[in-house]
Amino acid sequence: MMRTAMCKSFRAAKALTLCLALEGLLAGTPALAAGDAAAGKVLFSQKCSICHAPVEGQNKIGPSLWQVVGRKAGTLPTYTYSEAMKNANRVWDDATLDDYLIAPRQKIPGVKMIFAGLPNEPDRQNVIAYLSSLK
Ligand code: HEC
Repeated sequence: MMRTAMCKSFRAAKALTLCLALEGLLAGTPALAAGDAAAGKVLFSQKCSICHAPVEGQNKIGPSLWQVVGRKAGTLPTYTYSEAMKNANRVWDDATLDDYLIAPRQKIPGVKMIFAGLPNEPDRQNVIAYLSSLK
């Protein structure tokens, strides 16, 4: 009579082989993010955190940037914006943040964000990747 335990271990070995093959396939999937959120977090703490908190409901000199990606500019109800930001009429996404952060006060004249900007494109991409993670 055949020992069931033997069958079981044979089946387990086959399943393991399949598992490893699948793992190999999945390992080939490329990563999608453009910027590096970890590097962006460091930049944020150096350049933005004097005026902005990355957490919900905490406004400083500037509004909280929690969930800023997808927000219409100038619409956080708990923060008092300049007229310029209230009328900026744009939704913050990769493209609009990239444009604004080059030189905020030139891109939207009259905003009260006193910050020269991030002229370096990889810096902007990294900060935007970090902002996208705040949700
Ligand atoms: C010296 C203070 C200061 C610094 C530094 C600063 N900001 Fe701001 N930021 C502000 C203020 C004030 C506003 C509101 C502007 C207005 O109402 O005109 C603002 C607004 C914004 C907005 C629009 C938010 C909204 O709700 O529409 C974004 C996005 C933003 N800042 C991103 C950044 C990022 C990213 C950095 C760092 C690279 C940064 N800021 C650095 C003060 C600052």
